[in-house]
Parts: sequence; structure tokens; C-alpha cells
Amino acid sequence: MKKGFNVTPWEVSGDVNYKKLMKDFGLEGINKDILKKIEKNAGELHFMLKRKVFFAGRDLNWVLDEYEKGNNFFLYTGRGPSGPIHLGHLGVWVFTKWLQDKFGADLWFQWTDDEKFLLGKKDSFEEIEEIMRENMYDVIALGFNPKKTHFLIDTKHAGLIYPEAIKVAKKITYSMVRSSFGMNKSSNVGMIFYTAIQAVPAFLPSVINKKKIPCLIPHAVDQDPHFRLTRDILPKLGYFKPASIQSSFLPPLTGMHGKMSSSQPESNTAILTTDSPAEVERKIKKYAFSGGQKTTEEHRKKGGNPEIDVSYQYLKMFFEPDDAKLKKIHDDYKSGTLLTGELKEILIEKINSFLKEHQRKRELAKKRIDEFLFRIN
Ligand code: TYM
Repeated sequence: MKKGFNVTPWEVSGDVNYKKLMKDFGLEGINKDILKKIEKNAGELHFMLKRKVFFAGRDLNWVLDEYEKGNNFFLYTGRGPSGPIHLGHLGVWVFTKWLQDKFGADLWFQWTDDEKFLLGKKDSFEEIEEIMRENMYDVIALGFNPKKTHFLIDTKHAGLIYPEAIKVAKKITYSMVRSSFGMNKSSNVGMIFYTAIQAVPAFLPSVINKKKIPCLIPHAVDQDPHFRLTRDILPKLGYFKPASIQSSFLPPLTGMHGKMSSSQPESNTAILTTDSPAEVERKIKKYAFSGGQKTTEEHRKKGGNPEIDVSYQYLKMFFEPDDAKLKKIHDDYKSGTLLTGELKEILIEKINSFLKEHQRKRELAKKRIDEFLFRIN
């Protein structure tokens, strides 16, 4: 437990201090040179990079150098199907799709049904399979290229994954797992083994193609402990260390602590991709933490604080890509010209128009899972 906050793949709590986290995890910042290199090759900079939503990484310089030499990377990311998809997950995937489009990269997408079963949040494996199918609709709806996107389901592609996972597992001791994830004597043996499974897609394309291929993993910072271990092991097996690009968390509606999560029984802290316009409006109006003043008069006089205002943060991290428009909202809110209620209305409108289109594509996605499942030819 870090002082004041805790970040592991299975628990995020407290007021995350990203500077301290970078130090604790040993992450590299995304400096100007890296941004320039991305911009040069992509032709533009994604607003999530400009605004430091993606704020850290590992070996980004190296993976971009390899790209410039003509040795393109593949992308690897994933989802543990424990509940419905919320807006927080979408940020990582929207950015991953941008990388796929701009760099012409293949994407390997891991579905960790085993992890979520072992973690014990759901007792029924069948229920997890159902959630996974629903989650897949959301990923497909984002518009990934089916020819370049390969879904790997841990339990369905076990024949491919398991022989590689045991090679990783043999190089990981219990004490390494315990210090990375905080396991204890009552942790089940499946969870102790699990990190070896999440390591595999970082080198599986190299196994299949019989040559070393660079890998870039976009994820939020909670997944880093897995890939720190992966990076220690892969060179010992003759593969490259995977590079990563890492985002901060979209906060829960209720304030800038922890991360948006949909696993709680009452998902009032999260906006789900299946929420109706009325549901979005209700949640934002009732729960979105405000950085405004208590009364209109006071707000007009003193202004609001966008840094702690959840509605403003959602616009900044996801829903208002236009820098000039965002700046105006920021300045008007800070000066007191824009009221909390008006700021919330802007966000409600943005989320609902995004979700309208997403839900339409999500319906179409229901027939398309087969296009994305990896098959060995
Ligand atoms: P999972 O299903 O918990 O999360 C999926 C992805 O969403 C990110 N994430 C968030 N990002 C921003 N704001 C939030 N509030 C938020 N909540 C979750 C996660 O970091 C993740 O990128 N074990 C993994 C599945 C996995 C994986 C991977 C993820 C397998 N291989 C490779 C990333 C990369 C999991 O349970 O993710």
C-alpha cells in the first residue's frame, strides 16, 4: 500500500499521485522528443497525448526507432470481462485504434475470462462468458480493422497460449508475484499463475511468425505490474521487452479518487456504454462531483475549479477534442461565467451524442465477433 493511494491490477484506491506513481513504478515520461517522433510518423498528435492523458510509458523511443527503421510493432491490449464496459475503458481503446490507424499496426486483443473467474468476483463461468460477449460488442463498435485485429480468449485459445505461458511461469517465483501484486497465503493458485498468461500476447506474434517483433502495449497504469514482470522475463526467452504507453484513470463520477469502475453493484459512479440518454443525464446531474461554488452568487464571484471538477475532466480526457473549445470552457468556468449546471449540460450532450452513435454500431457488432477471433491458417 503506497501512502494515500494504492494501484495494482486488481485494486485502485485513494487519491492517485501520478508523479509519485511514476517514481514508484519506474515509468518514463513522454518527453517532447517522443511526442515529436509520434507526430512526425502519425501526421498529427492525438489530443490524449497533448493533454497528458497518456502520460508515461516504457521504451517508447526504442519502439519508434524500430518503426522508423521499417521494423513495425504490433499493438497488444486487453480486457478482463468482469462487468459492463464504462467510459474509462473506452479511452484506452479509442487511443489504441488511433495507433492502429496511424501506424498500420496489427492489434492483439486478449480476453482474460480466466482472470476474472479466478479473481472470484463472479462465481459462474457462464456468466463471465456472457459478459465477455457483451464487452466484445463495445470493442468492435469502436471501429478496429478486422483484418488487423485478433481476439485471443484465454480459455478458448488455451492450446496456443498455454505452451508459451509455462515458459514464462518457469521463470517467475512466488516471491516475485507476491512483491508485484501483494498476494498472500490465501490467494488462490490460479491468480498466482495468472500473470504468466497475460505475458503471452506480448510475444505470441513473434512465436507465430518465427521472428522477433517489437510490441507496444497501450493500457492504463494499473496494468503496469504485469508488464514489469513480463519485461524481466522475455529477454530470457529470446524476445524483445514489450514497450508500453500508459494512461491515467478516468475518475469515477463521485470525484477525483481512484478509477471509474463498473464492478460495483450500483454503477452510479460509472457511465456505461449501454446507458440511455435519461440515465446519463440522471447520473451526471446527481453524482458528477463539482468544482463549483455552493451558490450561484458565490460562483459568479469566485469562479469554479476545473482541476477537481469531474465534468470538466471528462471533457478534457475524452469528450472535447477541440483545444480552443476546451480552453473556453476552462476559462469561463474558472472565471465564474459558466455555472456548474451549464457545464454539466455540455457534458451530457457530448456523452449522449457519442453514445447514440456507439450504441448504433454496437448493435451492428453483434453479428461480427467471428471476424475478429484469431484463427491459425
Ligand atoms: P480491465 O478489463 O480491468 O481494463 C481494460 C482496460 O481499461 C483500462 N482501465 C481504465 N482506463 C482509464 N480509466 C479507467 N477508469 C479504467 N479502468 C480500466 C485498463 O488499464 C485496461 O487497459 N488484466 C486486464 C486485461 C488485459 C490487458 C492486457 C489490459 C489483458 N492483457 C494488456 C491491457 C493490456 C484487465 O483486467 O483489464
